[in-house]
Amino acid sequence: MTVTIYIPRDSGALALGAEKVAKAVETEISERGLDAKIVRNGSRGLYWLEPMVEVETPAGRVAYGPVKAKDVASLFEAGLGLTTHSAHPLFLGDPEKIPFLAKQTRLTFARCGITDPLSLDDYRAHGGLKGLENAVAMAPADIVKQVTESGLRGRGGAGFPTGIKWKTVLDQTDDRKYIVCNADEGDSATFADRMIMEGDPFVLIEGMAIAGVATGATKGYIYIRLEYPHAVATMNAAIGIARQAGVLGVNVLGSPNAFDMEVRVGAGAYVCGEETSLLNSLEGKRGVVRAKPPLPAIQGLFGKPTVINNVISLASVPIIMDKGAEHYKDFGMGRSRGTIPIQIAGNVKHGGLFEAAFGLSLGEIIDDIGGGTATGRPVKAAQVGGPLGAYFPRALFDTPFDYEAFAAKDGLIGHAGITVFDESADMLKQARFAMEFCAVESCGKCTPCRIGSVRGIETLDKVAQGVERDKNLALVADLCNTMKFGSLCALGGFTPYPVMSAINHFPEDFGPHPMKEAAE
Ligand SMILES: Cc1cc2nc3c(=O)[nH]c(=O)nc-3n(C[C@H](O)[C@H](O)[C@H](O)COP(=O)(O)O)c2cc1C
Ligand code: SF4
Repeated sequence: MTVTIYIPRDSGALALGAEKVAKAVETEISERGLDAKIVRNGSRGLYWLEPMVEVETPAGRVAYGPVKAKDVASLFEAGLGLTTHSAHPLFLGDPEKIPFLAKQTRLTFARCGITDPLSLDDYRAHGGLKGLENAVAMAPADIVKQVTESGLRGRGGAGFPTGIKWKTVLDQTDDRKYIVCNADEGDSATFADRMIMEGDPFVLIEGMAIAGVATGATKGYIYIRLEYPHAVATMNAAIGIARQAGVLGVNVLGSPNAFDMEVRVGAGAYVCGEETSLLNSLEGKRGVVRAKPPLPAIQGLFGKPTVINNVISLASVPIIMDKGAEHYKDFGMGRSRGTIPIQIAGNVKHGGLFEAAFGLSLGEIIDDIGGGTATGRPVKAAQVGGPLGAYFPRALFDTPFDYEAFAAKDGLIGHAGITVFDESADMLKQARFAMEFCAVESCGKCTPCRIGSVRGIETLDKVAQGVERDKNLALVADLCNTMKFGSLCALGGFTPYPVMSAINHFPEDFGPHPMKEAAE
């Protein structure tokens, strides 16, 4: 029997040496004359264990990790190329029993790290394409209804109900409509989009095809950030395979529906993740935010009705169309339905992707699942929702992971990235960084963001120097108020969240300093 050895080709695993491990495994197989093959899978998202090598045995898979190339020979001594395994310090046993994986509810990421990302047969064997098969047999309005009833909300940041967006596009009578997938993934601590594009690309293709069938769009674009060359390569290869197999093309799965798609690579601007900037960029223009209205759903790409959804929103649709709206809706709390791939990063012991139903508390995620800080020092703060998200102090760690609960605490879930900081973090520096980030990434279209962020840096620098601290902190609050309510998009509008949360929750980091008179 041929033994299958899985070695991830996901960017995270590659960064940790997976390619060298794969080469070493290949050499051992040939030198030992073993009947074994290597499958390059995606990552399971347990990044502190990557590269994680798995072997298929009659009793199921066993894993080893984190594996370095120098460990490979000893792993073979312990039975890596065989179906029986003896003790090895890197032996992890059944990967699904590792608490970090065992505690998850994997709906969207069900196949990620398990299947061969570029095998459509493997995808089908693990439940793939059932959602699309159901969709092509349904009326578009019924597909939209099912997505609406599932309670799915956009995972890109704003949490807008996906079904309602689709309905707006469906209701337009234009001759051409588009599905645009936002894979710009610019938020700090986020990698869910990349992981699924590299680990299970067909689920995104299936989700986009369903969106096309549901709204009458025949063409899709995936806008992937420049920094994701592996995701670009995997998506391009998967699209070719899907086209060849008739999943894409003039007759999707043999139905009268036409749908095809292409990958477009961004040029590396955070603001190009904002949907209207992204559309400009896709059209070959400068990535500047467009004023709304018109909504992209009515006048989007090339002036035509366009669904713009995040990768995870679209990749969550196949399971909804396969198992039904009720099944998906059963998970979660309040108005946050289904599951969310939480990405735990920063100074944390067990960083990785943890898909769970909404409702876990921030403390459970950071302390129990993440295992606290990597440095072993106490956790001081966590920034949730990327660079525009608020800093949460430990006092707010009982906040459940839910859109409304986070908004009630002046925070946001965003794309569900969490950056953990230990007690050595200087929150004044973090507040300054937020303003600086906004200044660097601003598209420049509106004044509160373009000028406000620069004034914000200068004023926080005065606070740091102890110059008229109270007066300057009041000025920062006033400035944040103007940015929040006067900015055209959430880059300027949400920068006040990290700034004001740092000031309000960690006032000790903003003084007391010796009061100095202003220089002028
Ligand atoms: C400055 C800025 C950057 C953004 N970056 C992203 C991004 O990288 N990926 C993403 O999906 N949404 C991003 N968004 C949100 C998008 O504008 C939009 O809400 C989203 O693509 C809609 O998809 P969804 O409804 O599936 O979340 C960003 C928004 C702003 C204001
Ligand atoms: S808030 Fe900033 S990024 Fe957004 S439109 Fe205004 S200048 Fe551009």
